Amino acid sequence: MRIRKSTICIENSAPSQRRSAFSVRATGRALSKRGVRRIADYGCGVLRNLPVEKRYFDEITLVETETRCRNLAPLLRGSNQVRLLTSQEFENSQETFDAIYLVCVLHIIPEPARRRQIVKAAVSKLRPGGFIVVDVPQSETYYNRRKRTMVRYKDGYLLRWGQRFTFYKSFYSNELDELFRRTGCLELDQKIPYSKHLIRVWRKTPGPERRGRVPRGIERISSRGLRPSSDPRFV
Ligand SMILES: C[S@@+](CC[C@H](N)C(=O)[O-])C[C@H]1O[C@@H](n2cnc3c(N)ncnc32)[C@H](O)[C@@H]1O
Repeated sequence: MRIRKSTICIENSAPSQRRSAFSVRATGRALSKRGVRRIADYGCGVLRNLPVEKRYFDEITLVETETRCRNLAPLLRGSNQVRLLTSQEFENSQETFDAIYLVCVLHIIPEPARRRQIVKAAVSKLRPGGFIVVDVPQSETYYNRRKRTMVRYKDGYLLRWGQRFTFYKSFYSNELDELFRRTGCLELDQKIPYSKHLIRVWRKTPGPERRGRVPRGIERISSRGLRPSSDPRFV
């Protein structure tokens, strides 16, 4: 079957979309206890996870495609706790976050290079010691039911919706982990067992080249006879 690229659409909701994701419910309290205040939800979709995120975090940045941002903007007007960025704005911004959620996003992206780019962008926006929560469905009933009509495409499948298609990839756990491990600055903090989903919490390390190095500003202050900061990050 010949499929034109233009007939492949982005899925904007997730399996079991009426409920918040287990990965967000399972990590919200624990991450807030570990000092997470500012988060980004990359590919927030139809906002099913927002009520849970609002409960645990002070500042929430939602990241979406330009088209979805246009649809979401009116729903978020007047909220001080929440703001919305396109993925381009997110990638261009200088800010960093305590945690970034990537929930049910990577498995709908057909190009492996784009998946790597999303992970790289997320890692670059994370402060040292910050967390990435990644969740992808694996053999979800939602997708399994449609398997009869699926067409193989790249390293996944296309699901037919009339004249349109959406992409679906069922990740192997090693394959998903490699995507994060290859960034070279993440360590696996937690694997969360949950049926039909792979859920991981990754933590950003200072990186081999920066480990043990004292930030320049601190050296300068010390050399003027002032005491070094008591902040444990600078010791
Ligand atoms: C299957 S939905 C999941 C939504 C939400 N995370 C959830 O758990 O319900 C995937 C979302 O990722 C978004 N997405 C895909 N590619 C994106 C990109 N490059 N930048 C931002 N969002 C993207 C889609 O628009 C869609 O809303």
